[in-house]
Amino acid sequence: MNSRLKFSDHIKLIRNIRTSGTISPSSRGLIRRLLASIDFSKAQCVVELGPGNGCITRELLKRLSPDSSLICLELNNDFVAQLNALNDPRLHVYNACASSIRAILDELDIGCVDFVVSSLPLAIIDDEVVTAIVESVRDNLCEGGRFVQYQYSLNNWDDIKPAFSEARLGFTLLNMPPAFVYDCVK
Ligand SMILES: C[S@@+](CC[C@H](N)C(=O)[O-])C[C@H]1O[C@@H](n2cnc3c(N)ncnc32)[C@H](O)[C@@H]1O
Repeated sequence: MNSRLKFSDHIKLIRNIRTSGTISPSSRGLIRRLLASIDFSKAQCVVELGPGNGCITRELLKRLSPDSSLICLELNNDFVAQLNALNDPRLHVYNACASSIRAILDELDIGCVDFVVSSLPLAIIDDEVVTAIVESVRDNLCEGGRFVQYQYSLNNWDDIKPAFSEARLGFTLLNMPPAFVYDCVK
């Protein structure tokens, strides 16, 4: 990505701070940390929540096999257009709320997903929407499926942890600001 493009991504995030919850895209270090527990040889279907400018999406596409699917749910129209421009046949981009995973999987005739990767700013999303998103993630993961999420605070950790059979908390300094990484197994 060139620096001009990066600058326009910052502007989009700042303009939409109330839904983006940040002023800059995730660093490479944070993305590596977030994806570290994903076994890409078992990733047939992955859902990404809040892909924004696609910094994590591009890394997922690099690692996913040619016959896999990546389904992105993003609220912001500008980012949806930017993601569609990636023009990858494995990528399905929806201008939709993260709580609507089931409706989208039904449209694509998919039963359950192997991994959910999220950079949603849960701390600034209304509690009832967060509850609906967490239920939607858990209910649509296959048994043994994994949910990874980064956050700048520990908000919502106590709500997310009991929804999964295993939940680990990590932390990385390789981002500004530093971030917690939630790693949960259904
Ligand atoms: C912190 S940004 C993350 C962007 C990028 N993935 C990254 O890591 O830099 C959060 C993104 O979530 C999107 N978003 C916020 N609420 C959402 C919701 N309920 N459903 C889907 N996307 C949402 C925002 O539009 C924004 O693009």
